[in-house]
This record gives sequence, C-alpha cells and structure tokens, in this order.
Amino acid sequence: MRITAPPHDDGPGPGAVDLSDHDFYATGDPHPLWARMRRHTPVHLSTLPDGRSFWSVTRYHDVNTVLRDHTRFTSSRGTLLSVLGGTDPAGNRMMAASDPPVHTALRKPMAKVLSHQALRPYNPQVRRVVHRMLAPLLDGGVWDLAEAGARFPMAFTGTLMGLPEEDWDRLTRLTTTAIAPQDADYRHSEGHGTLAAAHHELFAYFSGLVRRRRRDPGDDLVGFLLGMEADGRPLRHDELVYNCYSLLLGANVTTPHAVAATVLALVDHPREWDRWRADPSLTSTAIEEGLRWSSPANHFLRHATRDTHLRGRHIREGDAVVAWLGSANRDEEIFADPYRFDLTRSPNRHVAFGFGPHYCIGAPLARIALDALFRTLVPAVERFTLAGPVEHLASNFVAGIKSLPLRARLSPGARRTIEAAVAEDGPVTV
Ligand code: HEM
Repeated sequence: MRITAPPHDDGPGPGAVDLSDHDFYATGDPHPLWARMRRHTPVHLSTLPDGRSFWSVTRYHDVNTVLRDHTRFTSSRGTLLSVLGGTDPAGNRMMAASDPPVHTALRKPMAKVLSHQALRPYNPQVRRVVHRMLAPLLDGGVWDLAEAGARFPMAFTGTLMGLPEEDWDRLTRLTTTAIAPQDADYRHSEGHGTLAAAHHELFAYFSGLVRRRRRDPGDDLVGFLLGMEADGRPLRHDELVYNCYSLLLGANVTTPHAVAATVLALVDHPREWDRWRADPSLTSTAIEEGLRWSSPANHFLRHATRDTHLRGRHIREGDAVVAWLGSANRDEEIFADPYRFDLTRSPNRHVAFGFGPHYCIGAPLARIALDALFRTLVPAVERFTLAGPVEHLASNFVAGIKSLPLRARLSPGARRTIEAAVAEDGPVTV
C-alpha cells in the first residue's frame, strides 16, 4: 500500500471504490480516500455487488470506540474482512476472536509470558536473529529488505514458540498467503481456494505440533499454552491450535512491514536518517513513528451486538463494522501534520497495535525486535538508495511491502561490527 500525503480534497469518494478489494492496496492509495472519508463520511456504509455490506469507520476516536467497546462491537464473529458474510469457526476459541470474559481468561495468563519483563532473557536471541538478517548486507549488491524482513519475525517468534527452523520458510509463506490470498505471488486457485488451503495447512501443522508436544511440552510458548489454564481448565485441542496460529500470524504478517515502511520513509527523507544516526536516543520515538506511519494492520472488523448509533448513523444489530487503523493514524484532529514522518513525534498515541481489550499482546515482543533491529541497522548504514521498484502486497488487511530492493553504503567499521557480532553469536538456538 502506498503511503502518501493526499494532495487535495477531490477524486473518487468511497461510493466509487471498493475498500475490501485487495488489489486496491497493491496498486492504489487509500490515503486520499480515507482523508475525504474522515472529513465528509466518517461512518460510511459500503455494499458490495453480491449484497454483503460493511460500515467503515475512519476517524481516530470512532476507531477507538469500535475496538474498545466489546459490549456493542463483538470480535466473536471474526475480526477480518475475509469473514464478511460468514462466521469465524475460531469464534470464542481463539483469543483474538472472543470477547470478555472468555477473552480475559485466555489473555491474562498469555500476557504474563509475553510481557517486556518476561521476554528480557530472550533479548540476546533476538539480537542474534538481527545479526543474521543483516549479515547479507556485507556482500554489497542489492539487498531486498522486504524479503529479508519477511523471515525476521519467524526467526524470533518461531524460536519463542519452539518451532523447528526447517519449517520457518514454509510457515512464512503460508501466513502471508493467509492474509494475501489474492496476491499474484501467492494465489494458486480461484475464489476462496487459496485462503482455505493455507488455513488447512496451517491448522494441520499446529494440530500435529500440539499432539507431538503433549508428550514433551518443553519450556517455550507452546509448552506454556499446553500447561495453561483458562477459567480453571486446560485449553482444548482446538483452542491450542487456533491460538498457536494466531500468535504466529500476528507476528509474521505485521512486523516486517513496519521495518520496510520505516526504511522506505527514511530513503525518501535522507535527512531524517542522518538525524537518527547522529542521535541514537531517537530510536524509541522513531520506532513509534514508524509504527504509526506504516500501520501494518490496516483494519480490524467487529459486528454490532445491538442497534446502535455512531456519528448519527444507525448501525443495526449484526452489521459488520470495519475500523481502518491506517486512517485513524493519519487523523488530523489527533496528529499534527499527520503526513509528515517525524522521528521525534510526541505525543504519538497511534493505534498501530489497536486499542482496548485486544490491544496487541505481541507489542512488547514487536518493540524488542524493532529496537534490536534499528539499533544495529541505523549506525551500520550511511545511506540506503532504492535499487528497483517497490512492490506492494495485495491485501486489504496488511499494509505490506513485498519487494524493497536497496543498495546500502555502509559506515566505516560496520563490516567489522556485524562480522564480529555474527561470529560471537553462534547459531540461533531453537
Ligand atoms: C509491528 C508488529 C505488530 C502489529 C502492528 C500488530 C497489530 C495488532 C493489532 C492492531 C491488534 C488488535 C486486534 C484487534 O483489535 O482485534 C493485534 C492483536 C494481536 N496481536 Fe499483534 N501486532 C504486531 C505484532 C505481534 C506479534 C509479534 C505477535 C506475537 C507474539 C502478535 C500477536 C497478536 C495477537 C495474538 C493478538 C490478539 C490479542 C487479543 O485478542 O487480545 N502481534 N495486533
């Protein structure tokens, strides 16, 4: 998805564009449209040619309301546009697709093991993954950050979950297929065939894994889920499978795009890169701005539990409501000069990790990973330049970059630092 500043207030309105169309995000640019929607139709009803319909919510405060108020807007019928018109079999089984109190019972124990504090011993592993990811930079030539980044979360989440390394590439591809089944590089059959096949393979994978791991749970995240109790009972097989899937998907399909879009913004604004290099203390605010800027999770879906009103529009019980996070993160009522990439933006209350009860449970892990990556990358590279066209993912869910070919001019000493780090690290242990 392109990230631009809308030049003016004309162009087609939401009636003329299908916001659920995956290709729109590969070739088009939703930002001018969202800007108009925020201004003129902040709560908008779209009806697709097949009769299915959904409300779009584009302003920051409305997005927060929809994500926060689970009594009016339920997650239990599914949280992505891909389920529009149907029901999600993971409802009330998977944390992400449930409401309190089921959700709370699943989330509370999981949040403890995914907290910043609990993940601290794991930080050296994340740094190892970063060094391994950056090592090919030393070869010179063209480095595709989107390709390298795609494998990045698999390496730290796969390690955290104890998933065998030989499965990482396959799982990376499957999770991307699950969120971009219409993308030409992932689609292999018509209609819902590609998505159904990816889901089938991923669920079969985790079903087998959970069965094997019962014999020897281990002390990783899957082992933890096997021993965990929700509401006084252990998780059932289907709950284990859905939640393993959700944890891996949550990490895999988002984090790489935060990295790629941040670097792309800095390629476009080399002075900001210089500023960051000159002052490493900017890393935390720069990462948050990168998250706001990229908004890798583009939307989340809810269904109205009863008739309700939002900005004067009458939403009926059962209606689907889409909260567009990418739009909320550009809301000019909240963010001064929202189309400016500002490394020092503060406050920066972005909703890239959502809001309310479902606020991303992986946010501490994602922040640790992004911090480790940028603390190595920024001092190592003096200048990135684009070495070819940027390709965007066809997905209405993930604002993704699938190809970002770059040439890097390394800073003096970067080679020695990265080589020494890789040599010292040894292999990533699983
Ligand atoms: C830059 C990286 C990430 C972004 C932008 C992101 C974004 C989000 C957002 C917006 C939500 C809210 C969903 C909703 O309201 O329905 C969410 C929830 C979730 N994320 Fe992330 N995520 C990221 C990284 C991760 C990682 C690393 C993991 C794995 C550990 C993860 C696992 C999850 C899970 C399991 C949920 C559901 C939480 C719940 O229902 O309580 N995410 N994420």
